[in-house]
Amino acid sequence: MKEGGNPMATNKRIGIMTGGGDCPGLNAVIRAVAKRAMFEHGWEVFGIEDGYEGMIKRRFRRLEAADVSGILATGGTILGTSNTSDPYAYCVPGAKTAARKDVSDRVVANIRQKKLDALVIIGGDGTLYTAARLSRAGLKIVGVPKTIDNDLGGTDVTFGFDTAVGVAMEAVDRLHTTAQSHHRIMIVEVMGRRAGWIALYAGVAGGGDIILIPEIPYRLEPIKAKIHFRKTIGKRFSIIVIAEGAKPLGGDVVVKKRIETSADPIRLGGVGVVLGDQLERLTGQEARTVVLGHLQRGGSPSAADRILATELGAEAIRLVSQGIFGRMVAVRNGKIDSVSLDIPAEGPRLVPVDHPLIAAARAVGTSFGDE
Ligand code: F6P
Repeated sequence: MKEGGNPMATNKRIGIMTGGGDCPGLNAVIRAVAKRAMFEHGWEVFGIEDGYEGMIKRRFRRLEAADVSGILATGGTILGTSNTSDPYAYCVPGAKTAARKDVSDRVVANIRQKKLDALVIIGGDGTLYTAARLSRAGLKIVGVPKTIDNDLGGTDVTFGFDTAVGVAMEAVDRLHTTAQSHHRIMIVEVMGRRAGWIALYAGVAGGGDIILIPEIPYRLEPIKAKIHFRKTIGKRFSIIVIAEGAKPLGGDVVVKKRIETSADPIRLGGVGVVLGDQLERLTGQEARTVVLGHLQRGGSPSAADRILATELGAEAIRLVSQGIFGRMVAVRNGKIDSVSLDIPAEGPRLVPVDHPLIAAARAVGTSFGDE
């Protein structure tokens, strides 16, 4: 099991957990963390099932090298995940109301009882915020940033983003043919609650005519004008890429549902459908909306995401081996680095409105619905 392992290594027991929404590349991180821990250090590795739920309920399982072999290219997480089990506000199962209880002491006790020397926690802002609190409560934690939205503070990029952009770009490519054939407005709604990274990148890569992101509130008039202008140059169709968190100037986001047991209960979705109806009325042209939703989170990670996930996982174990805790591994100025685990809670990393890609898109005639 110890392929080229270090015979002088001290024995440690490491826990790995994935929390929050799934994301392409999670298994690649798990593999990198576990293999480096096992092969380079000879440590024992335990998977914690279903995010913080597994820490609360003591769902630990010993991982062998064979368990983390053959998972590099697979989507999802072999450990399972959850975004509704915050140990500081745990929803008591079966309770009639969403009664919440602080069970963080139980989590700390469970980790100590299992004799886990360190935890590698892979998650987004919610999961890492809780990790930072548990770290202050005495657990030795290294965080690994994850989200397809690419909006986590403290890192230049997150794994999963590149794959999601690829899925969204392919959707835009495919929708071009129907848009062209039927002379329609085709709207593609992509994920991105707070930040428009996926919409911006997929919109530019797919040649969207109009890109709408949360950072730039849109107005109907400039969108109508762009659609009309395209008609005057013989383009009888238009493609709009819209982030689920985009909103009209002075308006609000479209909420699809609330999940009361989640720390962040609001789930967005439907802004593309609302916009489609409005544009049909305004332009007299047929409009159709496709909401990509979780398709963007599924399936095999791209090459770039597998590489990034492997680098971040390996770096997490380097930090553990050096006794460096309370940190999140990150990409900073193109290099693998780390930042305080407190940083992601400081707020999302939004698309700057003067981002060079927005300028380039505007330069080739893309509208952002604002002018
Ligand atoms: O943060 C990742 C994300 O995929 C968002 O883009 C999206 O709004 C949200 O999670 C969806 O969450 P759920 O999987 O709970 O529907």
